[in-house]
Amino acid sequence: MKIAILPGDGIGPEITAQAVKVLDALGEKFETETADVGGAGYAAHGHPLPAHTLALAKEADAVLFGAVGDFKYDNLERALRPEQAILGLRKELGLFANLRPAILYPELAGASTLKPEVVSGLDILIVRELTGDIYFGKPRGVRECPDGPFKGQREGFDTMRYAEGEIRRIAHVAFQAARKRGKRVTSVDKANVLETFQFWRDVMIDVHKEYPDIELDHMYVDNAAMQLVRAPKKFDVVVTGNMFGDILSDAAAMLTGSIGMLPSASLDANNKGLYEPSHGSAPDIAGQGVANPLATILSAAMMLRFSLDRAEQADRIENAVKSVLAQGLRTPDIYEQGTTRVGTSQMGDAVVRALA
Ligand code: NAI
Ligand code: MG
Repeated sequence: MKIAILPGDGIGPEITAQAVKVLDALGEKFETETADVGGAGYAAHGHPLPAHTLALAKEADAVLFGAVGDFKYDNLERALRPEQAILGLRKELGLFANLRPAILYPELAGASTLKPEVVSGLDILIVRELTGDIYFGKPRGVRECPDGPFKGQREGFDTMRYAEGEIRRIAHVAFQAARKRGKRVTSVDKANVLETFQFWRDVMIDVHKEYPDIELDHMYVDNAAMQLVRAPKKFDVVVTGNMFGDILSDAAAMLTGSIGMLPSASLDANNKGLYEPSHGSAPDIAGQGVANPLATILSAAMMLRFSLDRAEQADRIENAVKSVLAQGLRTPDIYEQGTTRVGTSQMGDAVVRALA
């Protein structure tokens, strides 16, 4: 098993080092190779996604990604900006399924802006389709409005579309993920208004026939937004399109109130994937040794579960994280009075100790 390690910029190298430490402590030999990406790729090789970095990512069984971006690259042309690396990797690796768990550990219930009883123990998984929908549909642009009361004025327009195969493959990801969790999938659409999402619903119902052990229900996106803040614990797996998923996954992330805790996975058709924390490169705290490494450590756990077929090792890491939280250890972003403040590296060491 070969893992490509792409630390990137800002806090990327600090947090990735902790995840590598945890992987090393599992007592199993993984081959790892590290390469520059993002601003680090540009600084060392003149490109945010250098050819050898891309080749490594393609050849590896999984990619562990830190974060990219720094304001010092803001004046570069778009193609050379650090963020292009993640877009390039998604495209080149065919990553179409974005998995974002929103988990609120009971010890951190005070970190959410919602009442503790509403969110404590929250454990949901948002599965967002990444390649289709209105974000990429053509035609698109600005043109002369052809009809209606605004005929003759300029209008902006985009095209919402989903191919059947695109819906089928994300449906399979959601149903299979549900098998490893609470056995329930909620498909979020707007079938009452949009042809694309009536079709989406029809295909979901069809794919569901292959998963009689999983319960499927459907929810309109406006209601889903409401239910997410009203009673988020009612959900298990939520599957939806690119745009609804973009919005709902950010809302779900904030239910937990702590971006430093949230991992993510982006998968291809063969469960090869790129794993990264949901947050960015946090240039405001980079190099200070205070960043929370748990989102990255939990991303490594997702990597073991989804790409490396090591569910037991993933469980071990997740349990070790729960244990350090129960011990009261907190990086500054999740610190509360009465707990013990630790730095990035100390937090990584504590997870390693808890594994033993
Ligand atoms: P950010 O997520 O980097 O930071 C937002 C806030 O959260 C900051 O106050 C930061 O200090 C804090 N924070 C983030 N991660 C943390 C952690 N692990 N521990 C403790 N505190 C943490 O988002 P921001 O500031 O909007 O973007 C900074 C840079 O990151 C930009 O260049 C942006 O483009 C890039 N970015 C990269 C992403 C990626 O690599 N996939 C995703 C999002 C942003
Ligand atoms: Mg977003």
